[in-house]
Amino acid sequence: MTARPIRIFGDPVLRTTCAPVDVVDDGTRSLVQDLLDSVELPGRAGVAAPQIGVAARAFSYNVDGTIGYVLNPVLEVAGEPVPTGEGCLSVPGLWHDALRHPWARVTGMDVDGEQIVIEGEGLLAQALQHECDHLDGKLYLDRLPPDVRRQAMREVRESAWF
Ligand code: NI
Repeated sequence: MTARPIRIFGDPVLRTTCAPVDVVDDGTRSLVQDLLDSVELPGRAGVAAPQIGVAARAFSYNVDGTIGYVLNPVLEVAGEPVPTGEGCLSVPGLWHDALRHPWARVTGMDVDGEQIVIEGEGLLAQALQHECDHLDGKLYLDRLPPDVRRQAMREVRESAWF
């Protein structure tokens, strides 16, 4: 059980549509523990399973002192999308305004098959949208207005890690 290395932009797993968790087994429990361990590190608001190399529909979050996780999340949003400052562990060093809805709710399940509902505004709403995107192979770069996206992609190409 450990914080696993974060996969970086360019890794195909980040562009994969993740598979639902149909059966909770030891591997699932281990994945959840690793997601929780990985999101505890300072400055982290969320970690999605593909970011640690597993193409499964699961993520953890760490917002306003609350750490949690969810399997098979289904996202609902409300409110007009507004530009919201955002970064991603998989795109190190970049920070841009992504279009995010001000309210979000995720419904999913825990490792015992019990329903989990996570709902909120602000940073939590942003994190829920960001992490659900990861499970569909999307990055926040895809949520930028076209001109900002061009600038962001230039920064990606100029990054030492690229
Ligand atoms: Ni991210």
